[in-house]
Amino acid sequence: MTTIIDGDGVASEIRDALGESIETLAEAGARPGLATVLMGDDPASQTYVNMKQRDCEEVGIEGVHVDVDGDAPAEELYEAIEELNADPAIHGYLVQDPVPEHIDYREVLRRIDPAKDVDGFHPENVGRLVAGDARFKPCTPHGIQKLFEAYDVETEGADVTIVGRSDIVGKPMANLLMQKAEGANATVTVCHSRTTDLAEKTRSADVVIVACGVTELVDASMLSEGAVVIDVGISRVEADNGKGYELVGDVEFESAREKASAITPVPGGVGPMTRAMLLYNTVKAASITEDVPVELP
Ligand code: GUN
Repeated sequence: MTTIIDGDGVASEIRDALGESIETLAEAGARPGLATVLMGDDPASQTYVNMKQRDCEEVGIEGVHVDVDGDAPAEELYEAIEELNADPAIHGYLVQDPVPEHIDYREVLRRIDPAKDVDGFHPENVGRLVAGDARFKPCTPHGIQKLFEAYDVETEGADVTIVGRSDIVGKPMANLLMQKAEGANATVTVCHSRTTDLAEKTRSADVVIVACGVTELVDASMLSEGAVVIDVGISRVEADNGKGYELVGDVEFESAREKASAITPVPGGVGPMTRAMLLYNTVKAASITEDVPVELP
């Protein structure tokens, strides 16, 4: 029997546990605050930041949203960043990626106060993660680690193949899993668009994590019997289902589930975990900044 990994369920448990820590912080006069910054009007990004704001409201985090005109000069975005860096009510914030073409996202990240960088993308936080001393683990890889924990997926000594080398998922996922640490100790292979014989690399893995943004790239023929499959992709494709579209991942779910011992669905797998771990990092930021110790799930 293949286990369908219930990301919604695990995320909900994490949110409930965070709710208690948020109450503790609020009672100490330190309600956590999270800001989202969106430059431009990309519809997918708007949906994502709206969901992040709704999550804040649900768990009792003070949510603030800042819109910056997509045609504005970079300085306008930098001013918004400086204001958030200086605002004591904001413990964490993020600038939604992608930004308009005239903006250098790396420069944006360098300007974020690393103590408020709840994405974990600032170079200081990337360095800390690589050194095995993470302040904020990036939300998607951290969420995947939590799924492994919840479903007793053994990473120690496991061969893990990651498909995708993005700064947001592939690179931090590889760094986390190769560490000498609990929930890690894996042998990691990172594949990308120039990898020769991708199928050979995925077929030799105990765990396959796919985060490359190519719809249904990985199918059953590329998996070993009993592999654990984590699908980070989410794309809208046209469908004759009344809605006009459906959401699909980077894994061909229907064939892959026949081979996998456990697999994440799309939607309802990794996505809700990413959102929950952003709340986790915000609570952690508030706890550190306000010097109010709390339990983290
Ligand atoms: N765009 C897609 N995913 C993310 C994310 O995790 N953080 C930010 N800032 N932008 C994104």
